Amino acid sequence: MDNRPVGIFDSGLGGLTAVREFKKLLPNENIIYFGDTGRMPYGVRPAEEIRIIAGQNLAYVASRGVKAMIAACGTISSTADDILQQSETPVCGVLKPGVKELCASASPVVGVIATATSIQSGAYEREIASISPEKTVVAISCPKFVPLIESGHYDKNDEKVREAIAEYLVPMKGAGVGTLLLGCTHYGLIGEAIEDYFGGRVTLVGAAEAAADEMRDYLCANGLTGSGGSEDRFCTSGSVEEFERLGRLFLGRDITGSVEYVPPFPI
Ligand code: DGL
Repeated sequence: MDNRPVGIFDSGLGGLTAVREFKKLLPNENIIYFGDTGRMPYGVRPAEEIRIIAGQNLAYVASRGVKAMIAACGTISSTADDILQQSETPVCGVLKPGVKELCASASPVVGVIATATSIQSGAYEREIASISPEKTVVAISCPKFVPLIESGHYDKNDEKVREAIAEYLVPMKGAGVGTLLLGCTHYGLIGEAIEDYFGGRVTLVGAAEAAADEMRDYLCANGLTGSGGSEDRFCTSGSVEEFERLGRLFLGRDITGSVEYVPPFPI
């Protein structure tokens, strides 16, 4: 038994997809979430900046006394995996758990959508090739998704969301993708709209959800589960009011009063 919280971080709202799944799996865990909204989007920054950001976020969240962390960010997981591995506090990224689940699918053609920096890293193709070299991979970056979602557009009937999805995902349809990995954790917020676009003919794998599963397995296997769950804390380097507003909509519960401001770390 270990009642310390689990730390979860991302550039903004995206990592809340991991929070939602993790709290569903282990409701008695407290979490500390850090959404670096003041510095988002990460996915258009050069890899060198992301590596600095990864180190800063790990140090900050670890300093809050957590027992383990989820780097709920595809951009960090694909460009700074070695930095995550060096952390003294155990860290689970989202790339490996997501790819593992994708490769377990029977689809001969699989897709990955993620940020520009993640796709440019080539890490998804490398990881898929190391597990399932026979699979054909279609990888596409969707740079409009994160700013759209962070400005509150994630409803499946939102016209802007539907247009952006159609703009990026046409090649996935043409290539016969059977299973699609949402490699950026933000994309889980528009998962229903993506499902609608494919008319139910594609199976989605959420990297954030896969990482939450892995963290559950790790805590259970090591006797590290807790017995709390009612003291979640959220930190943002952007607007607290905006985070509370969108966080409530997305998590389906009021988080007013549990969100604190952390000034953005200088790069
Ligand atoms: N949600 C993050 C990811 O999974 C970061 C997206 C961004 O800030 O561009 O890549």
